[in-house]
Amino acid sequence: MTDLNKKTVFVSPREMQKQQEFINLIKTVLAAKYPSSAPKAFVHTYGCQGNVADSERIKGMLSQMGYVFTEDKHEADFVLFNTCAIREHAEDRVFGNVGALKPVKNEKKDMIIALCGCMMQQEHVSERIRKSYPYVNLVFGTFATHRFPELLYSVLRNKKRVFDVREDGPIIAEGMPVYRDSDFKAWLPIMYGCNNFCSYCIVPYVRGRERSRTPESVIAEAKEIIAFGAKEITLLGQNVNSYGKNSDFGVNFPKLLKMINELDGDFKIRFMTSHPKDCTKELLDTMAQCKKVARHLHLPFQSGNNRVLREMNRGYTREQYLELINYAKAVMPDISITSDIIVGFPGETKEEFEDTLSLIREVKFTSLFTFIFSAREGTKAQKMEDPVPYSEKSKWFSELLKVQEGIACERSRNMLGKTYTVFVEGTTKENDGRLTGRTDGSINIDFPGDESLIGTYVNVKVTNALNWILSGEICE
Ligand code: SAH
Ligand code: SF4
Ligand code: F3S
Repeated sequence: MTDLNKKTVFVSPREMQKQQEFINLIKTVLAAKYPSSAPKAFVHTYGCQGNVADSERIKGMLSQMGYVFTEDKHEADFVLFNTCAIREHAEDRVFGNVGALKPVKNEKKDMIIALCGCMMQQEHVSERIRKSYPYVNLVFGTFATHRFPELLYSVLRNKKRVFDVREDGPIIAEGMPVYRDSDFKAWLPIMYGCNNFCSYCIVPYVRGRERSRTPESVIAEAKEIIAFGAKEITLLGQNVNSYGKNSDFGVNFPKLLKMINELDGDFKIRFMTSHPKDCTKELLDTMAQCKKVARHLHLPFQSGNNRVLREMNRGYTREQYLELINYAKAVMPDISITSDIIVGFPGETKEEFEDTLSLIREVKFTSLFTFIFSAREGTKAQKMEDPVPYSEKSKWFSELLKVQEGIACERSRNMLGKTYTVFVEGTTKENDGRLTGRTDGSINIDFPGDESLIGTYVNVKVTNALNWILSGEICE
């Protein structure tokens, strides 16, 4: 588990063929079981885009089995929650929602309930499901995604509960079908796992060692996505900057970006997440040179204080982080920078937290993803002294949000009257004839427009800035 240099193992084509045969078998079983209309599957994904990308593969397999998708779990024949273990709150939501399925299943005895993803990779969780949620039929972890057809077949066939939560080492399974949630933007995983062991983080325990897909596989999928008509490709990995490490194909992340940038087609490239420890000037120069790469850098700093950063095992200092930011702004004056922050790491003092505030004021991030520290079982930080009460951390958290709000308002005011190219992502939640789009720097703008524009780029002039909410009008 902790051998950081273990070679990647690619699941054999024979094994993948075997899984394809299970898909075909299930298709026959389901056709006999549901002769009049296709069986329905409800798939809900928690957590990061890595999980979303996994769900798109599971949905690819479900679709080949003959399932159609529904948003209503009450009418589903198959329910799957793909879970996230990053914070306690994420886990509580899953347990709550699995609990709420019990009466649904009582009414519909044939329903198959499955749980997968990061939470299931923790022994205490899979044991809790085994003991306290007997109506859950199938549990599988992050290493078993490609074995899903075999596991589901076993549930259908033997009518027994199936658990597959083993840790398989650094495996990569290629060739699973993909059912993409969007027609115009696509997730493209380039690597899996994480070797960084930040002291607060569960990911290295539930996702295993870092491993990279080959450049050939990544390029082949990028071409598929472009041919499919998508206009935005987001490259995914917990630390995309370590792409290619421990592999012998001699392509690092900047080189991979260049290779994708050179592909024909009208599309934008985004990526996440970049870790400051491995973010190089080569990467920032490459971003600056590549026309198709969006001018957006998500670079989580977590804390602005060097002692806290050391305790977090982040591998960089505040000064090194700021140097990167300054370099990025120098080579890309229009760069938009976003970040993640943890408030109330064990032992963090008010003074140390103030260093996070001063860093935010200095960098002026476009937006922030902010979290109060949540202790995760088995991590180093879980065992650290944590004397500051949650109520106090909440106050710091609110203070941080207020500072960021001020920065966002100022930025919004500066955007007033200017025109931006935005990628139209959909209608507004209110569905009031308005559309919502995102700038290259990942800033949302609402504007009136026809739904036929969804999935295209339009120029929008910002006409109104209410706090950080922007609205505008399409212009030529
Ligand atoms: N690989 C990415 C982060 C993935 S997790 C990176 O290193 O930047 C997304 C975010 O969740 C992290 O950046 C961190 O801010 C937050 N997070 C992770 N573990 C957490 C914990 N135990 N408590 C609170 N926030 C946490
Ligand atoms: Fe977690 Fe750190 Fe890995 Fe990100 S880099 S996934 S925060 S251990
Ligand atoms: Fe959550 Fe797993 Fe992603 S823990 S954040 S779903 S890698």
